[in-house]
Amino acid sequence: MSGGRERDIQHLDEQLRGLVSRLASILGDVLREQVGEALLVEVEEVRKYNIELRASWSEEKQNLIIQQIENLNPDMVFALVRSFTLYFHLLNLAEERARLITLARRERSAYPEPCSESIAMALKELKLEGVGAQSIRRLLSRMLVEPVFTAHPTESRRRANLFHLRNINRLVADLSSNEILQSEQEYLEEELRRAVTSMWQTDEIRASRPTPLHEVANTLYYFESTLYPMVPRLYRDLEKALLRYYPGESFMIPTFLRFNSWTGADRDGNPHITATITAMTSRWQKKTILKLYRGSLERLAEELSPSLRLIQVNQALLDSLARDRRLMPDLAIKFEKQSVFEVYRQKINFILARLDRTIELNQAAYDAEQEAIKAGIPPSQAATGLANVRQNDYCYFSPIELLTDLAILEESLRENRGRRIADGALADLITQVQVFGFHLAGLEVRQHSSRHTAALAEVLRFAAVCDNFSALSEEEKYSLLERELGDPRPLVIPDADYSSDTQEVLETLRVMRRMQLEVNREVCENYVISFTNQPSDVLTLLLLAKEGGLARLDPTSATIDCDLHIVPLFESIEDLRRAPDIMRQLFKTSLYRSSLAGYSYLQEIMIGYSDSNKDGGFFTANWELYKAQRQLAEVCREESIDLRLFHGRGGAIGRGGGPANRAIMAQPRHSLGGKLKMTEQGEVIFARYSNPEIAHRHLEQVTNAVFKATLSPQARALRTGAEEEWFPALEGMSETAFKAYRELVFENPNFARYFFEASPINEIGLLNIASRPVSRRATGRIQDLRAIPWVFSWTQNRHYLPGWYGVGSALHNYMYPNNSATLDEHRLALLQEMYNGWPFFQTILLNSERSLGAADLEIARLYSTLVTDEKVRREIWELIEAEYHRTCAAVMLITGQTTLLDNIPVLQRSIRLRNPYIDPISFIQVALLKRLRQKSQDNFAIDQDREEFEKILGIVLHSINGIAAGAQTTG
Ligand code: PGA
Repeated sequence: MSGGRERDIQHLDEQLRGLVSRLASILGDVLREQVGEALLVEVEEVRKYNIELRASWSEEKQNLIIQQIENLNPDMVFALVRSFTLYFHLLNLAEERARLITLARRERSAYPEPCSESIAMALKELKLEGVGAQSIRRLLSRMLVEPVFTAHPTESRRRANLFHLRNINRLVADLSSNEILQSEQEYLEEELRRAVTSMWQTDEIRASRPTPLHEVANTLYYFESTLYPMVPRLYRDLEKALLRYYPGESFMIPTFLRFNSWTGADRDGNPHITATITAMTSRWQKKTILKLYRGSLERLAEELSPSLRLIQVNQALLDSLARDRRLMPDLAIKFEKQSVFEVYRQKINFILARLDRTIELNQAAYDAEQEAIKAGIPPSQAATGLANVRQNDYCYFSPIELLTDLAILEESLRENRGRRIADGALADLITQVQVFGFHLAGLEVRQHSSRHTAALAEVLRFAAVCDNFSALSEEEKYSLLERELGDPRPLVIPDADYSSDTQEVLETLRVMRRMQLEVNREVCENYVISFTNQPSDVLTLLLLAKEGGLARLDPTSATIDCDLHIVPLFESIEDLRRAPDIMRQLFKTSLYRSSLAGYSYLQEIMIGYSDSNKDGGFFTANWELYKAQRQLAEVCREESIDLRLFHGRGGAIGRGGGPANRAIMAQPRHSLGGKLKMTEQGEVIFARYSNPEIAHRHLEQVTNAVFKATLSPQARALRTGAEEEWFPALEGMSETAFKAYRELVFENPNFARYFFEASPINEIGLLNIASRPVSRRATGRIQDLRAIPWVFSWTQNRHYLPGWYGVGSALHNYMYPNNSATLDEHRLALLQEMYNGWPFFQTILLNSERSLGAADLEIARLYSTLVTDEKVRREIWELIEAEYHRTCAAVMLITGQTTLLDNIPVLQRSIRLRNPYIDPISFIQVALLKRLRQKSQDNFAIDQDREEFEKILGIVLHSINGIAAGAQTTG
């Protein structure tokens, strides 16, 4: 470890210790007040015993602790779980604060040099590597960083508690300031006690599922409180860095950062997301962003006070004021009176008036839609009145009009010695309008491919074109689709009695069209098809889009003009393998190809990290994702298509999580092209975006990685390395890993029983985390379970299996070929070379090591005792245990470590310190799950003891939250 890094860790440690002991003592005060000294005594006892247990584990000690816990009354157990959970929430905040303090310290000591992994650092390094301004310009012209916010059910904390946590976070930030007076400190500590008390008195478990609109409100919160104010800072960072490292060069800074959202639009497996919800969401987003602009303009009006008595303004500003006066004569008199000589203020007032009118019309459209819905009219047919307004209203029809007005202010300032003023809040607002437009974030619809097929089959049957579209072979489907796409006649029969599912698919497309016309195209133009597994899945949606008015055929040129960006999502191992051929066939289909013209022949393709992982295991999924990206890049290059890959990643390693910048640097060559689009889901959103400082750091690290991965000759060489020579080894290992994983998860008849019994999977389903149901189909089969509850369950029971199972077999069999007991030194050397020279392989090992380090065999074994059939338990447990040891040994051998996570000491220490506090929650969870399951076997007993049953269930649900807080991940 370098001296600097060691000092950082030491500094982090000191900061953390101070903060944690302060917060723990505040928590102690609250627990004493709220429950009494007895709870504190119990917490202390449990803590002490668990620390001893961790110091030297024995089954005897473990059973003693469990026994002790079981002897407590349920109220005390409940209070214990909640105390430890609250402790973790505070610890997580303290860690975040300590990280920020350390970052600031690092930045101070680096000054005037830039901070590591910042945008400036990327440009400095590129300059040193000899990358010229022209290459930077080329990259800037296509660069894009695009986080997509989703409502995936991985945030187990309620919004009420997130609110308290943010409040506590602010107080902790103030408290850790160096310049604080004694009286302020007392005040802040009192405020903290108040906030912690509020948390203690707030229900942690939702009484019912959140509605889709609650989810929308949650996402909007991050836009309003973090992204909107923070975004201009990143643009300034880039501007300043370009000026510093490429002086004398001119650059056009593009809108390189954009945001999209699935909240209120992702309907895959979620029947609650309807066309109505999507319509409401887009209007709500528009209202939110316009109000944010309003606030900024009001502040700007305060700031832009230059007076005509002191300074000139340019003619363009005067002309535009004259136009505004003609458009809004009544207001003009008022504005002139208010600010006679302050013409900038006059102009801002006109802008505000136009903005208010835009807000008003958006609200009227929203209200009209609501009325229509109440009257049973679909939202796409509601009379919003917006069409008539177009010609003669002074509202803003598009963000371009607002930008034009802002540019008039800017130019006049610049021409009249006001550069400094123009570079402030006005420049920030211009950036904000460029980034957020009138839509705030692009709403992306997602639906399962089978839903489109079923809908189209019905439409074709009603139109007497085809009796059973779903039953056709792929070739038959494809040629029928091509034929119908080339035929101008509509297929959908107005007022036909389609099933409600079909109506919903069609109405969604119509609503998208409507929103595009009434807000702008960006508001809703991307449509992701989950489980795309054949080319016809894409043409099916294109044909439906044509019916919905989003795609128009020009029969003369035989081309399709399309306002829908269709994004196939490949997420099973098989589909990832097929993806390049599927795309090639589509690109060669002239109608499909023509539909990309409106997007400058850009094709976005999404790849799913979670489902591929669940399908083929960690090693194989990563390898197949890697190959698919390379091959897709190749196909797109051959077909002259611009590729944008969209990474569907979750927070957990088993769902594509892990450090984002490392993942970017490990992407295969040609797959990035300066563009990075990725999902931000559930608990990751709170972790990355609830604090503007952290959000800024995250996005600057991501941007740094995009710059370097795309342009740095060194990084590119490293990524390519001897890659192709290493492929056969990877391919062979992946086969072994796949076999080991599939044999356990899908072929062993006892595995499903083990999984369902040894984890709180059913209880996770009762948590009411999100509006969508836990499974697509309630079959009790692993295949039908969604990836989130799958990973969530393995996190709770500390197996963390999705993050490593199969890796050990792959590495071990490679290093000990043909079941030999002797290590093949050459092969080990090759794996070490790959580890040191190939970021992709290194990332696989490091990420699986993170999962191995977070897994805990002692606790996992305890969960295995929940399996009632001892034979089943033993068989599966032994397989898991053996693979775990194999994986640890192989990873440590290759990475040259003696203990897991020696190379990631911050994580190693965090896990070690947290374990004694997570353990008691796990003990409680296991003991209560046993009791619950015994009770639910006997319906009579449930009726008798309904109250007790509910109480135990409540504690189990709280324990799930507690473990998630301790492990800092749901799954
Ligand atoms: P999905 O997400 O089930 O919505 O496809 C999977 C995941 O992100 O884990």
